Amino acid sequence: MTIEPSNKTNASLVNCREVRKSFGSVEALKGASFEIRKGECFGLLGPNGAGKSTLIRILYGATSRSDGDVDVFGLDPASDARSIKKRLGVVTQDNALDEDMAVGANMMMYARCVGIPRAKRRARVQELLEMMSLAHRADARIRELSGGMQRRLVFVRALLAQPDILVLDEPTTGLDPAVRLHLWEQVQRFKERGSTILLTTHYMDEAERLCDRLVILHEGRVRAEGSPRNLIQRFCPGSIAVLPASEANRVQAKRVTDSDPDFSWFEDRAGVNVRGPSLNAVEAFLERCGLQPVMLRPSNLEDVFLEVTGRELGAND
Ligand SMILES: Nc1ncnc2c1ncn2[C@@H]1O[C@H](COP(=O)(O)OP(=O)(O)OP(=O)(O)O)[C@@H](O)[C@H]1O
Ligand SMILES: [Mg+2]
Repeated sequence: MTIEPSNKTNASLVNCREVRKSFGSVEALKGASFEIRKGECFGLLGPNGAGKSTLIRILYGATSRSDGDVDVFGLDPASDARSIKKRLGVVTQDNALDEDMAVGANMMMYARCVGIPRAKRRARVQELLEMMSLAHRADARIRELSGGMQRRLVFVRALLAQPDILVLDEPTTGLDPAVRLHLWEQVQRFKERGSTILLTTHYMDEAERLCDRLVILHEGRVRAEGSPRNLIQRFCPGSIAVLPASEANRVQAKRVTDSDPDFSWFEDRAGVNVRGPSLNAVEAFLERCGLQPVMLRPSNLEDVFLEVTGRELGAND
């Protein structure tokens, strides 16, 4: 008798190899490869127009790929989109809600569409509306809800069928900090139950907080891959001090960092930045050089993102 290995937690649910997609003469994806493992929160990051939404749509067959291999739950979305969609809960970038319908009635309709048995529909909808703090608005028309409430309702819709993968395409864009926190908590809860999440976001703090692993997509290809901590260590270790932008600070930053290989400088919209191995080291270094920073901070995922994708605005910005 053969015994199946019981530990399948690292099995990959999604595998993309050299995926390409062209829209006419626009090559949106030029050979993107990554995998999503069972039980992880996987981040797909990249600048506007990097191809994140296109990749997501390819995963559930809403967009066809031009080339490459895609495997989702062992199925190919080019031929098995229906079976794949049944197991995905998607929070699309735009809400795409029927604004004339009432909240509860609309979710009951979706519950029927995703095959929840009639006897269980009401309880499931109620449970999710409560989880998203929307139960008190069940009778309101969707158009009467605020933007944050509509976004939470899209989460309800995505969670109805108890998906194996929750796909979140910029779930918290435009939301106030309290709503973002609330949604982060729900995503964490979903993850703690062993579910898998695919997240795209432009908020690097969101990615740093939620993602176990992520890739940075740039100009159609994966440019970096790893855990947030690992990427920071690899691309931007240490800490950064920011000096006000001025010619004098620029000249000084160049001069003092030229004299010590542990330190370097760059300029961005925040000002003149001096980078070094640790907060204490940068602080002491600048003090010795007679320079006064306006801010001192550890490197973060935003630094990695800018390092990997560049600090200039692209054609899509
Ligand atoms: N249906 C389409 N027809 C033509 N071009 C498209 C289509 N969908 C996407 N594109 C182009 O493909 C590229 C990638 O778009 P996509 O929406 O996937 O980017 P994104 O990474 O999701 O960007 P954002 O962060 O702004 O949401 C862009 O250049 C976009 O203009
Ligand atoms: Mg997008």
